[in-house]
Amino acid sequence: MRQLNCKIIENKKVAQRFYKMRIEAPYIARKAQAGQFVEVKCSCGTDPLLRRPLGVHRVLKNEIELLYKAVGRGTELLSKKEKGQALDVIGPLGDGFTLPGPPVSGPMPIILIAGGIGAAPLVALAESLAFSAKRIAYRKKQKTYVLIGAKTKSHILCESEFKKIGCEVKVSTEDGSKGKKCLATELLEDLLNIIRYPLNAAIYACGPVGMLKVVAKIAEWRKLPCQVSLEERMACGVGVCLGCPVKMKGNKYKMVCKDGPVFDAKEIAW
Ligand SMILES: Cc1cc2nc3c(=O)[nH]c(=O)nc-3n(C[C@H](O)[C@H](O)[C@H](O)COP(=O)(O)OP(=O)(O)OC[C@H]3O[C@@H](n4cnc5c(N)ncnc54)[C@H](O)[C@@H]3O)c2cc1C
Ligand code: FES
Repeated sequence: MRQLNCKIIENKKVAQRFYKMRIEAPYIARKAQAGQFVEVKCSCGTDPLLRRPLGVHRVLKNEIELLYKAVGRGTELLSKKEKGQALDVIGPLGDGFTLPGPPVSGPMPIILIAGGIGAAPLVALAESLAFSAKRIAYRKKQKTYVLIGAKTKSHILCESEFKKIGCEVKVSTEDGSKGKKCLATELLEDLLNIIRYPLNAAIYACGPVGMLKVVAKIAEWRKLPCQVSLEERMACGVGVCLGCPVKMKGNKYKMVCKDGPVFDAKEIAW
């Protein structure tokens, strides 16, 4: 992890309130794993004082991409930044996703489930899975499904990116404006019901905590491995301030920034 002064290559609006920023950051691009994040200083002064955590959306040769939603002071300021300006970034931080090992029996589909902006780090994961399929024989046989849930059609993120990577994408919206009118967790139930036995799939999820809780329950009931990426308000981002605790089973606490943001779903006290 390093603190770097990165050059902004591009910062563009991709949907209402959603932005994609590409920054020159060879060190982070070399080191980052899918699921890790960076802490971004959104202003040149002290307002806001704290950095904002953003997941690594894509890793390019010497650059990384961030996909973010402008929700408050920090991300609003970020959205105003222009190409050529400098951005103070610390990263890569945290523990990312662990790719699945060889399947015990039969092909093991990999299911990525995204709620809203939760799609951002899952693109990095899908790219990492596709990259490893070029080198690992069993990975070539592992089909990757992506289930995207959003409020409406215009809130669906990264559908074309996932398709370009070669994933099979299914979409749901709460208002039925695209895909099935349901929550993403219902798409997960549907998919698990049609995957042939022995049911053997690895699940990765990122999105609102309510969605993650249901995904964790489904995975536990079906005895499937499941990793979830949590979002918590953060300050230091490196495990020092103890400001981002998450309760684990056994009455223990872990820090989302240092021990996560990705956790084994069955370890969390939902
Ligand atoms: C590990 C990690 C990775 C993240 N990756 C992304 C990403 O890739 N793209 C993205 O758009 N966002 C991501 N987030 C959320 C992002 O950090 C917050 O949206 C951001 O910090 C808000 O800052 P702000 O100053 O704009 O809003 P604030 O003014 O601080 O808050 C505005 C609103 O957003 C809520 N909020 C603030 N921070 C969080 C948070 N961490 N989780 C949930 N709600 C929050 C506040 O409660 C408030 O309602 C991530 C968070 C974490 C912890
Ligand atoms: S943000 Fe300081 S411990 Fe996690």
